[in-house]
Amino acid sequence: MTASHAAGKGSVPDAVFAVLQKANAAIAAIGKDKVVNASIGTIYDEEEKFTYFPTVLDYLHQAAPEEMMNYAPISGLPEFLSSAIDQVFQGNQPENTFAKAIATPGGTGAIRHVFVNYLEPGQKALVPDWFWGNYRTIAEEHMRSIETFTMFNEENKFNIPSLKEKTTQLLAAQDNLVIIFNSPAHNPTGHALTDKEWTEVIDFIKECAGNKHKKITILLDIAYIDYAGEPQATRNFFRIFSGLPENMFLAIAYSMSKSFLIYGMRSGALVGLSSSEEVVEEFSRVNSISNRGVWSNGTRGAQRLLVDVAKNPELKAKIEKERAGFRELMNKRADIFMEEAKDVDLKTFPYQSGFFIAVPAPNPQAATEKLTADHIYALHLKKGIRVAICGIPTYKIPGIATKIKCAL
Ligand SMILES: Cc1ncc(COP(=O)(O)O)c(C=O)c1O
Repeated sequence: MTASHAAGKGSVPDAVFAVLQKANAAIAAIGKDKVVNASIGTIYDEEEKFTYFPTVLDYLHQAAPEEMMNYAPISGLPEFLSSAIDQVFQGNQPENTFAKAIATPGGTGAIRHVFVNYLEPGQKALVPDWFWGNYRTIAEEHMRSIETFTMFNEENKFNIPSLKEKTTQLLAAQDNLVIIFNSPAHNPTGHALTDKEWTEVIDFIKECAGNKHKKITILLDIAYIDYAGEPQATRNFFRIFSGLPENMFLAIAYSMSKSFLIYGMRSGALVGLSSSEEVVEEFSRVNSISNRGVWSNGTRGAQRLLVDVAKNPELKAKIEKERAGFRELMNKRADIFMEEAKDVDLKTFPYQSGFFIAVPAPNPQAATEKLTADHIYALHLKKGIRVAICGIPTYKIPGIATKIKCAL
């Protein structure tokens, strides 16, 4: 019954949820203690229970019914929009720039708007070859597609020459270009660009924007930024985005799913930044109508939470403390994994922070299937294996790197 463009959708099951299902079946068959569920990007505590911030739960329990259940304005509560900008930059908005925000259902909604409103139908967005698979789904859902550059060079460093080569190629073929960076705490490698790398990347894109026919958007996906370190230190790099030409735009996808551990409440924001006031006014107008035409409005209760966090330093400090606890927990798990990987000579990508560690593999699917014999359930990607350390209790981490090495 579907239209022809829709007919093939879903013929391949969602990779993450397929592995999760197998992990859950193994848990049901042999018990939780014997199974390592390394599949999903949700933080689980040391007892493998779903985690949340108690302060956020208390906040939601006391929220007024109309704040939880009423509609929000189409673009988002006005105070939410300014709070989202504050939360994203925390004092590090680049000089001489204009910024506006639009409420979206998580980072996913923000990414959707950028693909649709900043690329023509049929055009390609550029992403590194290690990327969150949903970028492809979102692009294809909206009649766009993606092209990849090689993310790491032989020395395991961010491969700027490859980015430059692919950018140049795409700009020769299309006038609009969206380039996605998921930094810091990249999914699936835990990588972050250094300030030096950012400077080189931005200088190069500014050079490309010397051709005034081109419209270049950097889509900065900061879904995991709040797990990359202290809020100030992780946001310093925003200052590098100053002096952008008018045809170079920064769109930031901000997610409350991870930052407040309210994945299911579907809230986040798209923040647009430009040296031109006109460009951000257009951003606000266009994306507001996209909200109306796709999901109408966002989750008011989650928006109100961010407003109150921005207004109330005590509430903010309490949540930051709880978040830092989970950040340290993931650092501890990652340290154990990385130490063992070094000992057994298992190659990984340069993990710095975040929910995932990635291991390159010539035949990822075969390797992850072998791992299931050891009751380890990890996600196979095109070029390797993703280990979701966010969900594995610390006591189960020792031995995983060795088993991956054996499976390879
Ligand atoms: C890299 C990356 N970006 C964005 C998102 C968006 O998440 P949400 O739509 O829940 O905010 C995710 C979620 O897993 C992600 O891994």
